[in-house]
Amino acid sequence: MKVTIVGAGSVGASCAEYVAIKNFASEVVLVDIKENYAEGKAMDLMQTASLMGFDTRITGSTNDYSKTAGSDIAVITSGIPRKPGMTREELIGINADIVKSVASSLIEHSPDVTIIVVSNPMDTMTYLVHKTTDLAKNKIIGMGGALDSARFKYRISEALECPASDVEGMVIGGHSDTGMVPLTRLAARNSVPISKLLSEDRIQQIEEDTKVGGATLTKMLGTSAWYAPGAAVSSLVQAIACDQKKMFPCSVMLEGEYGLEDICIGAPVILGAQGIEQVVEIELDDQEKAKLQASAEGVRKVNGLLNLQ
Ligand code: LAC
Repeated sequence: MKVTIVGAGSVGASCAEYVAIKNFASEVVLVDIKENYAEGKAMDLMQTASLMGFDTRITGSTNDYSKTAGSDIAVITSGIPRKPGMTREELIGINADIVKSVASSLIEHSPDVTIIVVSNPMDTMTYLVHKTTDLAKNKIIGMGGALDSARFKYRISEALECPASDVEGMVIGGHSDTGMVPLTRLAARNSVPISKLLSEDRIQQIEEDTKVGGATLTKMLGTSAWYAPGAAVSSLVQAIACDQKKMFPCSVMLEGEYGLEDICIGAPVILGAQGIEQVVEIELDDQEKAKLQASAEGVRKVNGLLNLQ
């Protein structure tokens, strides 16, 4: 199993670290445009191998995609991250050109690769990869919902003063401050709905805190977060690499599911060796449906800014 991670910044490097520590991939290649940067991160990570007990070989490359040849899975984290006060959508101009050229270089050397898009605005960047490459629909996955759901579960666990591993919850919709749809109605602690355990106000607060989860951290850190994003990507990589058939909300090209088409937006999918093996249609109530429709309108507006010649 060979995994390429493009962009050796904090998210890419954290992802490489978690993939290595989980020890399921034989090889991770980090790619960056900055001279020697990916090589340096790879060497630093490799010097943790004997301490952390992993066998994954991590190498770095300065923009030489021949080193990525034969990758099974590739993660695109390249582009500029958010600065405090910026929305993910404001990154579109610069990141669209980068993501398009990275995807084409990856596919040139690994025609059967499965691509996970992390660069923001993520749903639109995922759509862009669909529109500008010949990769099959199941092989293009946007990472947002897995991260937003982890942040949702964190907020619930904080309110319930319980471990996050006791909590089930999912965030669907667009990966944006206004587009996320945390499914509070279905969230539970060991099968007990959170509506039985928390007040309506507290649940409302959890919903709000979840939606601005990334922005909150950007303000605190001065740049976009990386541990949870890196961990979320590594979970998707593992689900595909190990054919786990696990369910995650991911940005997926919809073809009528949830009443939406020609859009990439967060919906529950099954991830396995074939990438997206199934889009799962859960029954939403009218309020949730309306929120998802509004979220889709927001994503479409950003998609409209793409130059798809
Ligand atoms: C975040 C970025 C990765 O939500 O979109 O932290």
